[in-house]
Amino acid sequence: MVVRYMGTKRHMADHVRDAIAELEPAGRVVDLFSGMGSVAESLQETASVVTNDAMSFTAALSRARFTGSDRETTSADVIKRLKPAYEARRRELELVYATELNSEVTALEGSRTDLLNYMDKAQHVGNSTAQRRTAKAAAESSGSDHYALASLYFSAGYLSLRQAVQLDAARAAIDADSHLEDRDWMLAAWIAATSVLVNAPGHTAQFLRPNSDSAHTRIVRTWTRSIWDEFTLALDTVSQVGTESWRRDNSVYVGDALDLVSAGELRDIGTVYADPPYTKDQYSRYYHMYETLYRYDFPDSSGAGRNRSDRFTTGFSLKSAVVASFHDLCRNVSRMRVPLVISYPSSGLLDDAGVTVPEIARQYFGNVQTRSYNANHSTMGASTGASKKSATENLYVCLV
Ligand SMILES: C[S@@+](CC[C@H](N)C(=O)[O-])C[C@H]1O[C@@H](n2cnc3c(N)ncnc32)[C@H](O)[C@@H]1O
Repeated sequence: MVVRYMGTKRHMADHVRDAIAELEPAGRVVDLFSGMGSVAESLQETASVVTNDAMSFTAALSRARFTGSDRETTSADVIKRLKPAYEARRRELELVYATELNSEVTALEGSRTDLLNYMDKAQHVGNSTAQRRTAKAAAESSGSDHYALASLYFSAGYLSLRQAVQLDAARAAIDADSHLEDRDWMLAAWIAATSVLVNAPGHTAQFLRPNSDSAHTRIVRTWTRSIWDEFTLALDTVSQVGTESWRRDNSVYVGDALDLVSAGELRDIGTVYADPPYTKDQYSRYYHMYETLYRYDFPDSSGAGRNRSDRFTTGFSLKSAVVASFHDLCRNVSRMRVPLVISYPSSGLLDDAGVTVPEIARQYFGNVQTRSYNANHSTMGASTGASKKSATENLYVCLV
């Protein structure tokens, strides 16, 4: 997987693929809540795919992997092309942040308390008027000083300042690169590199603090690693999936799944696969950092997680709206006159609302079959606390 992700169906992808293949889809398969695209990837020999997700950084990963002609450049070519602009912006930022970078070195060489103090005192857009002013100027700048978002928002927390500087410099180089056919690949690798080194438990709702000796050792070790080196490796990890002709017919959308199925704009569709969120955790809260990095749009920032306020929210993660959201999903897909395959665990939010998926689906589909599997869900320490939760994973195959 390119980026570790809550609720991934990687462990289930073969079951989903087999269930969809049995339907012999007479057209493309829509992966409506595609996340990291593990189901879309599994379909490379079964059908062309349309992916959709509300988070735009996931779409960059999907475009890089599921669309586009065979790449003509190697990762070494890309690195050679980007390096001069990367070095130039890195040097500029190292001058701007010379004092802070020195303090960071001292904190990393010091005790656990030194590092805690450094993190607690660090200035960022979420706690400093001066940084907010700098961010506003950077947002409006068309020059190289535009490239400071990671440093201004996420340094001395999710990343070391040195890593944030590297991330900003790499983004400056990617944005200046004229090979637009490689852009999604480069941005996907840039996000993937960040996810390898991010000081957070898989998701990015909050960063980790050196609250124990082992956490301190881990942060010191991670913070001294190079984002640029990781980016170089990630260019190879973000490889294209399937054949060029499979990728030619695939499409990638970003938006609310319910809007996509109600708009009536999808063409050549054979089956819809839906893997909606099943807890009250809004993904936009857990993955806001990648979203802000990808969009590079200098939003507001607040709280311990330095989170943007204009986050996407979905009714699938609200107890008061989950039932209506399932009705919307089933109603709109049944109007498309194609089968709907839904992944949903037994302990999902819908069950908390006292309803089951088949109870809703049968109101719109003539035949609803259930297949159940035992699975360990990775919660990554989200709202349930435990990092692994055993659950029954269900596939509901709904036929018109
Ligand atoms: C359970 S995860 C899907 C995981 C995916 N199948 C995989 O294997 O990586 C749910 C996904 O739905 C997205 N999402 C949540 N609500 C959405 C909505 N209303 N429309 C589109 N995407 C949504 C989240 O961003 C998340 O990526």
